[in-house]
Amino acid sequence: MQGPVAVIHLDRLLKNYDLIKNHLNQKRIMVVVKANAYGHGSLECAKALEKHGCDSFAVFSVEEGVELRENGINSDILVFSKMSNSSLDLSNKYELIINASSLSDINLLERFRKKNGKSPEFHLKFDTGMTRLGFDPRDAQEVFELVKNTKLSCQGLYSHFATADEGDLSYAFGQLSKFKKIIKIAGSFDLKFKTVHFSNSGAILNIDQSEFDQVRVGMLVYGAFPSDEVPMDIPILPVMEFRAPIVEVRSVNKGTHISYGGVYTTESKSNIGVIQCGFADGIPRSWYSRGYVSYNGKKYKIAGRICMDQFMVNFENDLPELGDEVLIFGSDKKDTITMETIAGNIDSTPYVIATDIKGRTLRKYKN
Ligand SMILES: Cc1ncc(COP(=O)(O)O)c(C=O)c1O
Repeated sequence: MQGPVAVIHLDRLLKNYDLIKNHLNQKRIMVVVKANAYGHGSLECAKALEKHGCDSFAVFSVEEGVELRENGINSDILVFSKMSNSSLDLSNKYELIINASSLSDINLLERFRKKNGKSPEFHLKFDTGMTRLGFDPRDAQEVFELVKNTKLSCQGLYSHFATADEGDLSYAFGQLSKFKKIIKIAGSFDLKFKTVHFSNSGAILNIDQSEFDQVRVGMLVYGAFPSDEVPMDIPILPVMEFRAPIVEVRSVNKGTHISYGGVYTTESKSNIGVIQCGFADGIPRSWYSRGYVSYNGKKYKIAGRICMDQFMVNFENDLPELGDEVLIFGSDKKDTITMETIAGNIDSTPYVIATDIKGRTLRKYKN
């Protein structure tokens, strides 16, 4: 079936990785490939990155980690989701690193180790202000004491920023100072971690002091800035080029209503193209009111509401070729429409726009 295509430029992914690595003076990078690598294809991205020298990945679910392992990824894989008793066997078997974020998690792991003689490696996650998963910093002594009294293999310590991509960094600095205190307390228990990590994309750009041994990077490596409040001083390139075919063109008169609700009316005689891609494929529905696509390097307005599987474009007096594709976002040889531009116009974020690309979209990988 003709339909939307996401061209994934793996060469740009590797270029972005190198740019970030240089920016960080060669610090170790954990690339976050959860949610199908933010819509880019986790397996293909992880394979390309591993071959390029990246030795650490993060996923959200144990199943995402198993998929990578079963397809030959040998690097470290950290699982972000809440530990569950039922997934310890799988995590152990596939040598996934899980995260302990409550005292009961540590007890669970120790029970598993006693029963099986071995348990998955894990990182301790502290909640310094995101109020999601993580130990309360006030429990740090108790946490480290408990770990010390087990024979568990605790490899890492980390936390997550809530506001690192914002202009006002006061809250983020508060989180950083809590995390530094936690590290100090761990030191007093003589606990040594293979890795300590805190920074996400926003912090990489905004807060140099938060880099520790390793950073966890998602959005930036896929070529989009996490917000417009960060210094955009790394020349990253959009990895995904999202395109869709023109499947019909019709000439309509001035005053013709287009699409649901008839909210768009042509102001002159126009060539209206039907594009085979809809909000079910990830093009944001709310983008229609100000949105455009690019065809042969020229921008054309989206005409009327985006439908579930199709949308219309006003090509005005130009007559596009049936079967040709329009660029919805990303960069082709002639033009660029960034996810950040779309996000800025519809009060969304590139995270939502990228991860919405799933389902019927065909991914084509380019080296
Ligand atoms: C725990 C954790 N670390 C790191 C990241 C990566 O964040 P970013 O894509 O902003 O680099 C995420 C993404 O949501 C996350 O949940």
